[in-house]
Amino acid sequence: MSQLSLGINIDHVATLRNARGGKDPSPVHVAIIAESAGADGITMHLREDRRHIHEKDLFLIKKIIHSKINLEMAPTENMFNIAQKLLPNSCCLVPENRAEITTESGLDIIKQKKNLHNLILKLKNIGIKVSVFLDPIKEQILAASKISADCIEINTGKYANQNSLINKRIELKKIQNCSKYCNDLGLQVHAGHGLNIFNVYDIAKIENIKEINIGHSIISRSIILGIFKSIQEMKNIIYMARNT
Ligand code: PXP
Repeated sequence: MSQLSLGINIDHVATLRNARGGKDPSPVHVAIIAESAGADGITMHLREDRRHIHEKDLFLIKKIIHSKINLEMAPTENMFNIAQKLLPNSCCLVPENRAEITTESGLDIIKQKKNLHNLILKLKNIGIKVSVFLDPIKEQILAASKISADCIEINTGKYANQNSLINKRIELKKIQNCSKYCNDLGLQVHAGHGLNIFNVYDIAKIENIKEINIGHSIISRSIILGIFKSIQEMKNIIYMARNT
């Protein structure tokens, strides 16, 4: 089976740091350990309200780590200006709503096609790979393929939130079908949101998915295990899913 990359979202390290307004825990320090534990990339979401990651974190981490930087951002001019200065390897465009606790759903590409198309072209022009965060809906994926997105990050949040096995299977099937659909359209497939050690295996089994981004569950488990072990634990599950 092909390789599956693991991007570690370190937003919640910054959430904890900001709770006291000091320097600890340091997202830079965690990014370095994540890299040495086998993370294939570091993902950060610079929110418009700066509730966790700050601009300074982005630039320090970009300077220090060697693995790929993925910047999650709202599709705005202001965020484009920051991406232009940072030059991450990739940007993942996400909808943003100040009242939400975390990203609640995928983008509605169909509603804002023109703006998104312009932004994607501008990002690609400066060498940044662009993914768009979408719910597993074929119409949205088709629309994304028409506005030059390089890749789709499928929102696994609804799958992750299902309690019943039947509903989980229904959501998993949607993700499997949409991953194949993306692949057939020539789009790279990523996945993320709500993934943890209990639900990641079935997602990691989907061969078309090339990257998953995980934040909250890995940072939460690091309180018990330490960040190094928490990342290695996730890497091992992904490896088992991909190779057995
Ligand atoms: N992918 C995207 C696009 C996200 O917005 C988030 C949350 O910031 C994640 C992945 C990671 O989600 P979680 O923290 O639930 O693992």
